[in-house]
Amino acid sequence: MCGIIGYVGGKKAAPILINGLKRLEYRGYDSAGMVTIDKNGANRFRVVGRVQNLDKAVSGLDLNMTCGIAHTRWATHGKPTQLNAHPHSDSRERFFVVHNGIIENHSKLRAQLESEGVVFTSETDTEVLVHLIDKLHETNLESAVEKTLQLVEGTFGIAVVCADEPSKIVCGRRGSPIVLGVGNQEMFVASDVSAIVQYTDQVIYLEDNEMAIVTPNDYQIRTLDNKPIARETLQIDWNLEEEGMGTFPHYMLKEIFEQSTTVENAMRGRVMLNEGSSMLGGLQSKIDQIKKLKKIVIVSCGTSYHAGMVGRCIFEQLTDISVDVELASEFRYRKLRLDETTGVLAISQSGETADTLAAIREARRKGALTIGLVNVVGSTIARETDVGVYCHAGPEIGVASTKIFVSQLVILNLMALLIGRYQSISLSEGVDLLRAMGEIPRQIQHILSRASVLEDLARQYYKVSSFLFIGRQLHYPVALEGALKLKEISYIHAEGYAAGEMKHGPISLIDAQFPTMAVVTRDATYEKMVSNIQEIRARSGPVIAIATEGDLHIADVADAVVYIPDTHELLQPILSVIPLQLFSYYCALYRGCEIDKPRNLAKSVTVE
Ligand code: M6R
Repeated sequence: MCGIIGYVGGKKAAPILINGLKRLEYRGYDSAGMVTIDKNGANRFRVVGRVQNLDKAVSGLDLNMTCGIAHTRWATHGKPTQLNAHPHSDSRERFFVVHNGIIENHSKLRAQLESEGVVFTSETDTEVLVHLIDKLHETNLESAVEKTLQLVEGTFGIAVVCADEPSKIVCGRRGSPIVLGVGNQEMFVASDVSAIVQYTDQVIYLEDNEMAIVTPNDYQIRTLDNKPIARETLQIDWNLEEEGMGTFPHYMLKEIFEQSTTVENAMRGRVMLNEGSSMLGGLQSKIDQIKKLKKIVIVSCGTSYHAGMVGRCIFEQLTDISVDVELASEFRYRKLRLDETTGVLAISQSGETADTLAAIREARRKGALTIGLVNVVGSTIARETDVGVYCHAGPEIGVASTKIFVSQLVILNLMALLIGRYQSISLSEGVDLLRAMGEIPRQIQHILSRASVLEDLARQYYKVSSFLFIGRQLHYPVALEGALKLKEISYIHAEGYAAGEMKHGPISLIDAQFPTMAVVTRDATYEKMVSNIQEIRARSGPVIAIATEGDLHIADVADAVVYIPDTHELLQPILSVIPLQLFSYYCALYRGCEIDKPRNLAKSVTVE
């Protein structure tokens, strides 16, 4: 949440900062700001709304300064106003701070500073940082930042500049990521690599409770209690072409249409068809411990949580291990009994979600084996888990998660199969699953080739005010995911329910204005689902069914049917979710919503 970029070198900082902010905008987009400095002083600009407003505000100005920091905000403390936008400064405008995270003891610090005569200009928690830096500054910026960070509680990723030391950025991290980029006589600071990959592929990640002093030709890393740290640069592998929208009008649609490739990438080099098993190099170092796990707890949030719920069914079918799925935000506060016989599997696209990160830290403290299933390479969860597997799905830019969900489901199948083949899964069962998996990319393309069916349905339904999604077993989490997609991008109220729960309450909502999307593929619960649909129809509720090709009976029961190809039961959610993603996309389109950047949301949720 919120994005940071900083530059110090020989080039004009402003265009680099604006470019970086555009790439970071998916992290937050309610206001933006930047400051550039040189020995003559500072130029600060702050705007409400998108980075393009900041771009307009500085266009035509001759900003020659070669050092600066910038920020795109997702408001936590104080509304999105110009005064609350970062960078924040002290009253003399010498020091400037951009900050991600939350300063939990800001009220106390603010009261203290106010009693000393400091005048605050914003409602943010961040502003205390800059006044403390001003107050504690004696010899140089780094010691003032160090002393300040020792006083604050909570989380921060910060970058700080001082107009009196105009070729230096000081940054620090606790809980919110900061990465340094090393260029040729220039250095970058950012909250994630996407902001700087166009300039350098040499990066260094700060760890918690570390800070860095960055100048055009050098960087020094040390702990917040001043112990020097030696850390080599890492080379990152990032395909810039994957980031563009191509011919698609929105990232979300592009990412939905990428899903057959996403599945291929998730499988590449990992399928061992002859052995009916998989090869996941990232788990290899702990495979003996993994084989003996008695329990796996999956922790995640949002769409990744729904993938975890599907994962539980997959692990139950393929392994002898008992599996729980927990919302990371709940898990971290539970009284947990974990030891080395428990594996805690963190699923996260970004690898930075605050609650998921806190959950695996808690699990490690208790002695559990931590396993990551992460998309962003080098992210904090990827680095902090004992072992892990990457999705290799490329950047997901749309705030609504789509292609990562299918990637996560493929890898959960591969993980469970790897373990299951050491347990009770037979060779032929493994081969059957992998053969079916091999068909999935083509089947996804087939569904996508009929996207216009979903567009037509969306045109019919986009004006409704509520929608229900139902499913059973593996399709219950798919129903939850369908509801999440619809509500987050189209703002239509939507609920996902286990179909068996209908008679325990939600059916009272049903009438002709309250439609239902029912995932009713050919599986063990098919007949029960059909009964649920009939109960809804009996109360005049319109029903769209997502059903298996060849199921002609369902057309007599539902108002409309969207067919998906038949596949192995454990793989069905990979196919059944796609019509729901498309339906949400087109509803949002017809409603004129900002699809890739829905209101109040950010792609990466790095605060609790
Ligand atoms: O990066 P993560 O997978 O940890 O993110 C988890 C959720 O924040 C994310 O899935 C969110 O719910 C999406 N907006 C859903 O589309």
